[in-house]
Amino acid sequence: MRILVTGGAGYIGSHTLVELMARGHEVSVVDNHVNSSPVVLERVRELAGRPFESHVADVRDTGGLAAIARAFAPDAVIHFAGLKAVGESGERPVDYYDVNVGGTLSLLRAMEGAGCGRIIFSSSATVYGEPVYLPYDEDHPLAPVSVYGRTKLMAEQVLADWARAAPGTAAIVLRYFNPVGAHASGRIGEDPDGVPQNLMPYLAQVASGRRAALRILGDDYPTPDGTGVRDYIHVVDLARAHVAALDRAAVTAGAEVYNIGTGQGYSVKEMHAAFCRAVGRDLPFEIAPRRAGDIAEMRADCTRAARVLGWQARHGLSDMAQSLWNWQSRNPAGYRDRAEDPA
Ligand code: NAD
Ligand code: UD1
Repeated sequence: MRILVTGGAGYIGSHTLVELMARGHEVSVVDNHVNSSPVVLERVRELAGRPFESHVADVRDTGGLAAIARAFAPDAVIHFAGLKAVGESGERPVDYYDVNVGGTLSLLRAMEGAGCGRIIFSSSATVYGEPVYLPYDEDHPLAPVSVYGRTKLMAEQVLADWARAAPGTAAIVLRYFNPVGAHASGRIGEDPDGVPQNLMPYLAQVASGRRAALRILGDDYPTPDGTGVRDYIHVVDLARAHVAALDRAAVTAGAEVYNIGTGQGYSVKEMHAAFCRAVGRDLPFEIAPRRAGDIAEMRADCTRAARVLGWQARHGLSDMAQSLWNWQSRNPAGYRDRAEDPA
């Protein structure tokens, strides 16, 4: 298939490009590199062993996007492009709605112009909010607590209405849990700008000497060891879920939603211990206050994805930790030549 990938230079997009190309799909990437380096795409080309086209463009530029889409004539679009920092979303709500909701509307217009009626969308478990029950299934009430979460929920609603209105179109919404790890080659991985906000990238920078110690944000949660529990998923498994979703979009119509996780929860302390095992030494940590807005435990029920998409996660915790350390130790400054903000 011919797949237009927005945000393809980002963390999840780059891993998905590798899986798509390994299965023989033709891809075209649109990214404005607001949160990624063009170097990523060079590395994906190396890993894939064949070229693909890429465009520096903003998804909100409907005219530019429409021209790219008409020329490429995609069978389907995977829409990763978006802003994802929860804290920042509260400070810059208009930018977040503009990119995450406005960007999605702009993309749908461009797809209409190119006669493309299939889209896979990156949503997040954060749309569920505080759990009414666990694990979350796709019918769990939706009550996001951040601006970021609300932009994702709105984009989901836009896609559902779009798919309902136009016969034969399909929108597959994937609600990711916590993606971690990196490609086995160590050539691509997560490379956050500035101080990492998420647990595993922060821990990786402690191991590489850029940060002094992990701060465990709360050890008084109602969980077995008091630290927050999440459903971490290996990014390569997540990438494979997009391949499965494309196959599904080719044979279905309307909007469908799938949780993408492992179904297994691990605490912050368990993640810390697993990463120390991968690195081969103890990494310092301190206990700090809870982070505002954090939830004690999040876990996915992924039975729908297994049943309908025929997809399930294959990689366990040690693969997640080892692949992350492989990436971080080979690229201590990420895609840059050197770390700009050492601890
Ligand atoms: P990322 O920031 O690494 O990738 C997003 C890419 O989109 C970047 O390359 C960025 O430059 C690009 N982009 C942003 N705004 C753009 C615009 N206006 N026009 C064109 N390109 C633009 O993030 P990621 O972790 O790979 O996440 C991909 C998607 O998955 C996002 O939509 C994110 O909200 C969603 N998601 C991520 C997570 C996670 O933990 N990483 C969890 C749930 C959902
Ligand atoms: C965060 C986002 C969420 C997004 C998800 C994707 C917030 C509030 N939520 O969720 O919207 O969908 O990433 O991966 O940012 N922790 C520490 N020390 C740290 C960082 C985190 O102890 O330095 C703890 C957290 O309290 C949490 C766990 O580690 O219990 C995981 O945190 P994180 O990686 O930020 O992910 P989420 O909070 O699940």
